Amino acid sequence: MSDKKKVYVRTYGCQMNVYDSDRMIDALAPKGYSPTDAVEEADLVILNTCHIREKAAEKVYSEIGRIRKLKEARADSGNPMLLAVAGCVAQAEGEEIARRAPSVDLVFGPQSYHKLPDLVTRASNGARVVETEFPVEDKFAHLPAASRETTRKRGVTAFLTIQEGCDKFCTFCVVPYTRGAELSRPVSQVLAEARRLADAGVREVTLLGQNVNAYHGVSDDGGTWGLGRLLHALAEIPGIARLRYTTSHPRDMDDSLIEAHRDIEAVMPYLHLPVQSGSNRMLEAMNRQHTREDYFRLIDRIRAGRPDLALSGDFIVGFPGETDADFKDTMDLVERVGYASAYTFKYSPRPGTPGAAMDDHVPEDVKSERLARLQALIARQLKDFNAAMDGRLVDVLLEKPGRRPGQLGGRSPWLQAVHVEAPESLLGSIRTVRIEEVRANSLVGRLVDVEVAGGPVGAHDIIMRHSTGAVC
Ligand code: 5AD
Ligand code: SF4
Repeated sequence: MSDKKKVYVRTYGCQMNVYDSDRMIDALAPKGYSPTDAVEEADLVILNTCHIREKAAEKVYSEIGRIRKLKEARADSGNPMLLAVAGCVAQAEGEEIARRAPSVDLVFGPQSYHKLPDLVTRASNGARVVETEFPVEDKFAHLPAASRETTRKRGVTAFLTIQEGCDKFCTFCVVPYTRGAELSRPVSQVLAEARRLADAGVREVTLLGQNVNAYHGVSDDGGTWGLGRLLHALAEIPGIARLRYTTSHPRDMDDSLIEAHRDIEAVMPYLHLPVQSGSNRMLEAMNRQHTREDYFRLIDRIRAGRPDLALSGDFIVGFPGETDADFKDTMDLVERVGYASAYTFKYSPRPGTPGAAMDDHVPEDVKSERLARLQALIARQLKDFNAAMDGRLVDVLLEKPGRRPGQLGGRSPWLQAVHVEAPESLLGSIRTVRIEEVRANSLVGRLVDVEVAGGPVGAHDIIMRHSTGAVC
């Protein structure tokens, strides 16, 4: 039995939450729910939350306040609205949300998404539902496959979660507590999902995991595959032209993964490899389990096989005990590595993590000042990185109609947005583009005619060219 209902999902935080939101929509489809972008017309509102920093969690409570008003306006209409809080705030604060926000009907953590239809039924019948256990069954085996609807909405690129949770316990981080212990999806499940994505027109897959390069999935023959081997198998799937993965820990870049960067054309030369700090003292206090020298050596090794590799990173300033000298080491590391982009954060103490209980917290104004200096340095590097593209030939995956008629928007191998005049029939193909203009947040280029072996090119044919194309 299914009656027509609307679900509105608001996603906060990381790409894994984006993926999870789509899976929740897919899980609710058999119950008659279709997604809507208009919160006012929703019968069910899900806030898929993030707990990584304080500000992210605060936003959730203010959004609950706004939705409460919509809910109250609907209360007597005979068509009530259900409000659900999912994601990492739900996992971390469970009962606390239920207490603080009585307008919330359901609270459930990331390990319970496959139970969503059942939880919604219980809430519709008037129960207040809080579900934050880490169940023993494999969530992924019970979640429905990515539907054509959610896949199409995302176009020719898609996320695919292959690993969840983390056992690293960096002292600043809540993830091991909210997403739980590290879990890798079995190889056959990942390959089957990737094949379905490719069949639905997806050309670029970004593999997701909190510690994605710690992937160790069981294969059908009972063995265990690391990420390097998995990338080889994914690259063989017809239609999959580009592979990315995020987020990685430097300790888990093993030889096979480093070789995958050298040997697999589909693996894009862009790696998000957070280091957090350039100071060995801070790295130790953060329990990162490596030194700055280890990080430099690692990058040298990956670049030896893939010289056009660009890096992005995450940095935290103002971790407890961070001195001016420690911060200087971070600036020095950034100078030496040279980033194409990076996310920078002021340390935000998270309840229950070891960092929050440390002495010697850094004053807010010092954090702000360090953040501004680091951001200025990274902005300069990003600008230089983009400026170096001027005049070059770059392979662009044409992803969507551009802002202006006659234009398409796509991405370079280094994740730069590229605008180009091109017919819609080229959507989903990879084309060589000569970059003619470098703007603050994007590149503008012109299609270059490429002689393609094998005849005319259809909408979904892919021109595979070696994407070291930055140097032409
Ligand atoms: N404070 C500030 N930044 C944090 N991050 C994780 N936890 C915290 C925290 N408590 C940052 C790290 C991580 C990214 C996802 O968020 O840089 O890599
Ligand atoms: Fe958090 Fe990443 Fe450290 Fe795991 S490796 S504890 S997810 S910062």
